[in-house]
Amino acid sequence: MFVSARSFEEYRSMFSLSESDLSLRILDCPGGAASFVAGAGERGVDAIAADPRYGPDRKTLGTLALRENEHKHRELLEHREDFVWTWFDGPEQYTRLRSHSARVFDADIRTRPERYVDGALPDLPFPDRSFDLVLSSHLLFSYGRQLNEDFHRRSLLELVRLSRWQVRIYPLFLHLDFKRYPALDRMRAMLAEYNVTSRVERVEYAFDPGDQEMLILECAERSALPQDEPEPASGSGSYDPVRWRHLESPARSGGLP
Ligand SMILES: C[S@@+](CC[C@H](N)C(=O)[O-])C[C@H]1O[C@@H](n2cnc3c(N)ncnc32)[C@H](O)[C@@H]1O
Repeated sequence: MFVSARSFEEYRSMFSLSESDLSLRILDCPGGAASFVAGAGERGVDAIAADPRYGPDRKTLGTLALRENEHKHRELLEHREDFVWTWFDGPEQYTRLRSHSARVFDADIRTRPERYVDGALPDLPFPDRSFDLVLSSHLLFSYGRQLNEDFHRRSLLELVRLSRWQVRIYPLFLHLDFKRYPALDRMRAMLAEYNVTSRVERVEYAFDPGDQEMLILECAERSALPQDEPEPASGSGSYDPVRWRHLESPARSGGLP
């Protein structure tokens, strides 16, 4: 699986992030070598990334993404007509922006290591409802040929568990297959059983043909999930790898933002 390095601006466009969305506490999973969290930090946005590659080899990820960019650049030059050039204006700009993004990621993971948490779906190391908004790009649905339906079901429920408001997932197409993840409707029906409503929205971002939709899951009114943590005994704390801003402020009501 590629370790890609999408930028803060790509995330804004893939997930239609408004200024109001960016005032929330955000999880990016999988973060890969994307510079969303770094760009968020520069703008004072409270964001955390999680990825299984943030273990002991985390400092090699930026270099790996740069190498993958070089490989991708050759592919883009050879197959230019297979991609949509409305968001990027061509292979040169694509590679320049992605390489810049990998470098921004690399600097940020070194200077703010606490923002990058080693964790893998479907079991992430955060307490229930740790974030307001959860973003997930280029893993679920994209790798639907490699990751089975049970993984998707458990991962979707895990992302829902962590969100107090919404989960947004992009894209809905299978990687290199240019058609929608075939079990999407089944996943949406499964989520509806937990009172998680969902809708597909068109986004401005475009690159792989057809990839112009995201799925939004509304989590505020969800019912209990199989993996919800038991209520902690009073006075005991659960694992909390960073300082959770929202735990220090008065609780927000369901209808964020
Ligand atoms: C194609 S990259 C996408 C990264 C980033 N979202 C972006 O758009 O640039 C896929 C990422 O998924 C991560 N990954 C693989 N298996 C995972 C799992 N079980 N849970 C979370 N992340 C996983 C990989 O380590 C890799 O960084």
